[in-house]
Amino acid sequence: MVLEKSAQNIYLPFGDHQGTRFYKQDILSVNQFSQEDLIYIFGVAHEMREMVARVGTFDLLKGKILANLFYEPSTRTSSSFTAAMERLGGSLIPINEVKYSSVSKGESLPDTIRTLECYVDVIVLRHPEVGASALAAKYAKKPIINAGDGVGEHPTQALLDLYTIFEELGDPNGKTVTMLGDLKYGRTVHSLSRLLSLFDVKLNYVSPPILRMPSEIIAEINEKNIPQNETENFDEILPETDVLYVTRVQKERFEDQKDYESIKGSYVIDPDIMKKAKEKMIVMHPLPRVGEISMEFDDDPRAAYFRQMEYGLYVRMALLALVLGKA
Ligand code: ASP
Ligand code: CP
Repeated sequence: MVLEKSAQNIYLPFGDHQGTRFYKQDILSVNQFSQEDLIYIFGVAHEMREMVARVGTFDLLKGKILANLFYEPSTRTSSSFTAAMERLGGSLIPINEVKYSSVSKGESLPDTIRTLECYVDVIVLRHPEVGASALAAKYAKKPIINAGDGVGEHPTQALLDLYTIFEELGDPNGKTVTMLGDLKYGRTVHSLSRLLSLFDVKLNYVSPPILRMPSEIIAEINEKNIPQNETENFDEILPETDVLYVTRVQKERFEDQKDYESIKGSYVIDPDIMKKAKEKMIVMHPLPRVGEISMEFDDDPRAAYFRQMEYGLYVRMALLALVLGKA
């Protein structure tokens, strides 16, 4: 696909994509998106960013209600969906701690979903089991947005990650992206690597041996002829890296905490190590961080992780507007 290159129009593909694209659709996996879809979503996110800067809050989703249903902890995803809905003039039912809901009485996910959809227009779901959002979508008539399903996927995070790359470095084509840390349990890298495989990128995976990228994801990406390189030698690939995507070791997913203790702190990004990196590159992290990026690096212009969180607001505003048919 050819993209218009002018600064104001970096997301506008040639062709007509108006109308009801994504209306009533579930957002379950990044595999549902084409490159054209991404450019379209980012175009809407870009407009959301301008509107927030200009007016703060507006009435695009007035009268619409979102349910935030979180079976796992969250700061960014839950609060950015809340902020997104409120900035669009809509309102929210927050179920951020399911233990105070009827889930603790043994209510099943399908029944909880069927209950909430009586009251709301869209449901954002985070759940510890892979496939939970797909299951919810099977029972729901209203759109389900996957906000993380165990070690499966985190598609809205990957969208905001890719939007960050576009905003900070431009078109990802030709870029080298290095993913570092827990590639086994980290759902954000599962989604992001798949999404990036729509572009002409090189992917490096750096992890302790027990936390390697799952072989089925590597095989899936291989089919798209994307160069992938697995290594433990971070120093070797840091100098060629355009995007360094750091992840937290997912302590809560380990069956044996001794394994966690044996590899925690394997890689730490600090100003010293970053002397070996390019001057024009970015360091990203889905957050929360627990020591894998030192706070001394935060003031470096290459540290993009706080800006990344803000981009998440605009992408989630865009998604809500799209699935509710208002963009
Ligand atoms: N917040 C991200 C997630 O929920 C990353 C993490 O928790 O480490 O997947
Ligand atoms: N990045 C992310 O999903 O953060 P939370 O777990 O705080 O939602």
